[in-house]
Amino acid sequence: MQIQGATALVTGANRGLGQMMARLLLQRGAHRVYGGARDPRSVREPGVIPVRLDITDPAQVAAAAETCSDATLLVNNAGVLTDSPLLAAPDLDAARADPPPLCRWSPDDRGAETAERHARHPGMRRC
Ligand SMILES: NC(=O)c1ccc[n+]([C@@H]2O[C@H](COP(=O)([O-])OP(=O)(O)OC[C@H]3O[C@@H](n4cnc5c(N)ncnc54)[C@H](OP(=O)(O)O)[C@@H]3O)[C@@H](O)[C@H]2O)c1
Repeated sequence: MQIQGATALVTGANRGLGQMMARLLLQRGAHRVYGGARDPRSVREPGVIPVRLDITDPAQVAAAAETCSDATLLVNNAGVLTDSPLLAAPDLDAARADPPPLCRWSPDDRGAETAERHARHPGMRRC
C-alpha cells in the first residue's frame, strides 16, 4: 500500500480506529487526509480535513466523493458492529459455519457504496 504522498479518505475518522488510522496516515507521509464523519465538527485530529459523511446517506456519499475526488486511498472504516457469531457461537467451528463474514455490519452497509464510488476514480488503485 502506497501511503507516502497519498491522499486518503478515512470514513468514521472522528474517533476509535478511524481517528487512529487518520493520524497514522499523516505520520507515515500521506500528503492529505480527509476525515469523514457524520458530524464534521467531531473530527479533531490535527491536520485531518473534516468532511461531512454519513455513509448511509447517498447524497452525502456523492458529495464526499466529489469533495475528495483527489483521494488515492480509501479507508472504509465507518460502521457498527451489530452482532458477532464469534462471541455468540459455542465454539470456533460453529462460528465459522455461521454465514460470513464473522462480523456483521450495519444493515444497509453503505460503506460498500462509498468504496465503489471511490474505486471508480482513476487515481484509486487496489492495494
Ligand atoms: N474495534 C474492534 O475490535 C473491531 C472489530 C471488528 C470490526 N470493527 C469495525 O472497525 C470499525 C472501527 O471500529 P471502532 O472500534 O473504531 O468503532 P467505534 O469506536 O464504534 O467507531 C465507529 C465509527 O464509525 C462511525 N460511524 C458509524 N456509523 C456511521 C455512519 N452511518 N456514517 C459515518 N460514520 C459512521 C462512528 O461515527 P459516530 O461518532 O458518528 O458514531 C465512529 O466514527 C467499525 O466499522 C467496526 O465495526 C472493529
